[in-house]
Amino acid sequence: MIYKNYWQSSFANNIHIHYFCTEMIKVRHISRTFGTLQVLDSISLDINDGEVIAITGPSGAGKTTLLQIVGSLDRPDNGSVIYGDTDIFKLSDNKLSNFRNRNIGFVFQASQLLPEFSTIENVAMPALIGGRSRSEAFGAARQLLDYLGLGHRLDHRPAELSGGERQRAAVARALVNKPAVVLADEPSGSLDSQGRADMHRLFFDLRRDFGHTFVIVTHDETLAADTDRMVCMADGRITRIIDRTTNS
Ligand SMILES: Nc1ncnc2c1ncn2[C@@H]1O[C@H](COP(=O)(O)OP(=O)(O)OP(=O)(O)O)[C@@H](O)[C@H]1O
Ligand SMILES: [Mg+2]
Repeated sequence: MIYKNYWQSSFANNIHIHYFCTEMIKVRHISRTFGTLQVLDSISLDINDGEVIAITGPSGAGKTTLLQIVGSLDRPDNGSVIYGDTDIFKLSDNKLSNFRNRNIGFVFQASQLLPEFSTIENVAMPALIGGRSRSEAFGAARQLLDYLGLGHRLDHRPAELSGGERQRAAVARALVNKPAVVLADEPSGSLDSQGRADMHRLFFDLRRDFGHTFVIVTHDETLAADTDRMVCMADGRITRIIDRTTNS
């Protein structure tokens, strides 16, 4: 596959971007309160390179809040998140934005594509923001969209795509800068059962073909059951971790 070749050759040049170490992300004693409401209570978790992790739990458990903090979109009251050797909340706001752009991809429940831009422009945008040339950014976006079966929809606006196509475009946008980790918050929550199955297969295909690390918040038990580890949350704490790689 063309994209795979592109990807692998890019990896050869940028290997330091993708691989931090085996325990790629260390989440340590994260707490977050909103007013008097304690939403996260001393959460610690290691996320390993190449893992697909599901975060599950009832509504209000704190899953989105945790994902936003791991993704540096929100700051904790206490605790740290360490990518490789980088303690991300010790970075200045500017450096943190750059770090996020280069190393973290996001997929949300609603694709959050910009409506006035075409599919390929939406996907290329993080690469342009990251300082890559137009031809590089659009080349990478095109190859990714080809890989994801959207090569024939490059010039469509988000409103002209199906729900599943929009989510695949959102995945392409998350991947365009070859991030170390992709954080997904109910990425298939708005899709029908076929769309959900396709999206789940896509995550595992991407991990198999390119070694991506995924942290996926999901209410979908079928997806959660396929992941390497399932992290169960309730009331701002991790209540259980089911590790299928060691059967523990
Ligand atoms: N900005 C905020 N201000 C005040 N409270 C908040 C804020 N963000 C989240 N909360 C509260 O924190 C709790 C956890 O929210 P969070 O969005 O993390 O839950 P969740 O596990 O993702 O739930 P869901 O499955 O419904 O998406 C909720 O009770 C929510 O009302
Ligand atoms: Mg949520």
